[in-house]
Amino acid sequence: MSNRKILVTSALPYANGEIHLGHLLEYIQTDIWVRFQKMMGNECYFVCADDAHGTPIMLKANELGITPEALIEGVSERHQADFRAFSIGFSQYHSTHSQENKEISAGIYNKLNDAGFIKTRIISQAFDPKKQMFLPDRFIKGDCPKCGASDQYGDNCEACGATYLPTELKNAKSAISGATPITKDSQHYFFDLPQFEAQLQEWTQAGHLQGEISNKLAEWFEQGLQQWDISRDAPYFGFQIPGVENKYFYVWLDAPIGYMASFKKLCTDTGLDFDEYFNKDSTTELYHFIGKDIVYFHALFWPAMLMGADYRTPNAIFAHGFLTVNGQKMSKSRGTFIQARTYLESLNPEYLRYYYAYKLSAKIDDIDLNLEDFKQRVNSDLVGKVVNIASRSAGFVVKKFNKTLSAYAVEPQLYQEFVDQGGQIAKLYEARNYNQAMREIMKLADKANQYIDEHKPWQLIKEEGKEAQVHDVASLAINLFRVLMTYLKPVLPVMAEQAEAFLNIDSLNWGNIKHPLTKHQINKFKPLMLRVEDTQINQVIEASKQSIQTTEPEKEEDDSMIQIDDFTKIDLRIAKIVKAQAVEGADKLLQLTLDIGEESTRNVFAGIKAHYNLEDLEGRLTVMVANLAPRKMKFGISEGMVLAAGDGKSLHILSPDSGAQAGMKIS
Ligand code: 2FM
Ligand code: ZN
Repeated sequence: MSNRKILVTSALPYANGEIHLGHLLEYIQTDIWVRFQKMMGNECYFVCADDAHGTPIMLKANELGITPEALIEGVSERHQADFRAFSIGFSQYHSTHSQENKEISAGIYNKLNDAGFIKTRIISQAFDPKKQMFLPDRFIKGDCPKCGASDQYGDNCEACGATYLPTELKNAKSAISGATPITKDSQHYFFDLPQFEAQLQEWTQAGHLQGEISNKLAEWFEQGLQQWDISRDAPYFGFQIPGVENKYFYVWLDAPIGYMASFKKLCTDTGLDFDEYFNKDSTTELYHFIGKDIVYFHALFWPAMLMGADYRTPNAIFAHGFLTVNGQKMSKSRGTFIQARTYLESLNPEYLRYYYAYKLSAKIDDIDLNLEDFKQRVNSDLVGKVVNIASRSAGFVVKKFNKTLSAYAVEPQLYQEFVDQGGQIAKLYEARNYNQAMREIMKLADKANQYIDEHKPWQLIKEEGKEAQVHDVASLAINLFRVLMTYLKPVLPVMAEQAEAFLNIDSLNWGNIKHPLTKHQINKFKPLMLRVEDTQINQVIEASKQSIQTTEPEKEEDDSMIQIDDFTKIDLRIAKIVKAQAVEGADKLLQLTLDIGEESTRNVFAGIKAHYNLEDLEGRLTVMVANLAPRKMKFGISEGMVLAAGDGKSLHILSPDSGAQAGMKIS
């Protein structure tokens, strides 16, 4: 077996927010790959760190009345706890605000500077006169110069999509102090990217990037490379530029260097040789897993910095797409902006690891976490197929055969077929086509279940003289389960460990499945995984709606705005109240029978009892939401909703202007 030396990274999460399911897509993708490499016998290290610098982190700490150091320390602990819970097995988790990073960043900067790759020039920028600081674009808000939409960021308009300079915004205000920004000059330091154009052109087309990404880069080259502004003025939370007062490295300069710094820390702690991995002539492999939004930094700036400072460049950048939940961008108000911690309160982390594996490929397409599909997929594949093989076979071996597997493997060709698939599955893991790997594994799981179905050990056991056959069938099934769990181990490390305990073996391992376990004593079977229930998913959604409201009100997206399509989805109709009745046992509700011009009337419960006499309601027109999904209430099914205005004390149902008729649509 080859013994490659591999260093792998995931992008560094910012130290001012919690880990959510979007982040986890990448960490799980990387972790599966690393676990797979280790199972293949390769020496593989997985390093990461918190991305701790920059204006947002400085401001958040100010807002909380703590130092940035205290902020990033607390966040780092929470991040690491989340990662542990999802079995993300970092070899090292560090911080970009570390001594190692400070030294390596200064070293790289000095080398770039000595080689003539750093330039300076004066630029004008928006400055907050109250806070006495330069304002990054996202901290300036104002009216769009193109369409006039208010409350837009300093670089682009979310209403009309226009891009512009912050100085072009109308009525610009500092989002920090509310002051009107002034324009101020200051000297900035630039990394002279255009000097690397030829080298980068070659590097980006030399197989280090996915096809879609190389194409994107070709477009960027056509537009021409620009010098990159790597300095920020004080006050800034970051590293001071060596030899320059009051100027700091822009967070994105020392962030990727944070990969090296984290590995450096690992080397110091364990005696590994840092130079062997980063020297220009290194024969080790280096891979960065990232989201497609940060390709520019990783496929242009980062290799150029490494080239300029005489280090090795990465073997590959592996980009993935964004996560959507139920087909849409994660949304706080819909409860689909799900934090790792909220998920963990109700659901097993291995469900998500499997579902992501089932969806992930080497492409950069977005990945949808459809929660209904998630439930069905986990229940059908993991619980219904894989665990089932063991759970329906273990009892026989444990109870009837003294927990011992039979002496000879029957149907060697079936077992061999399972073993032979290992090569193909390994190739799929290596190429990050986890989705196909999972499909191959599940095909095998189907075969194993078919084998049990055909031999019906539960019937055989009742027949005279068939005991040995039952023993063989159940033993083979358990051996097939062992092979499957070996293949699934990179994805499901916890379940694999439980399977190891059940099988009474040291470690499921690609190398030793060649031979089945015979005359081997196993342990009593304990359920390895429970079904996902709707209630658990609903809990996560509800808790996500709440956790966001209580912990991060200031970052609430503007979900109060809807698009015209959202509005047209609502079927508003004029309804005639044909009948109004009190509901027995309900203090506030009235039961209304509404005519909206359809063949049958609608039954709606409305909380308006305290405000109306029944006879005043009957016969009048109002407005109802006609396509609200029916809701089961204590007193019956409510088939819509009547609209009313109120201030908490009084309540007034809406009436149309004269001439309107029951059934008319409102638009
Ligand atoms: O986009 C982000 O979340 C950054 N914090 C990623 C940094 S990755 C690396 F370059 F450090
Ligand atoms: Zn606009």
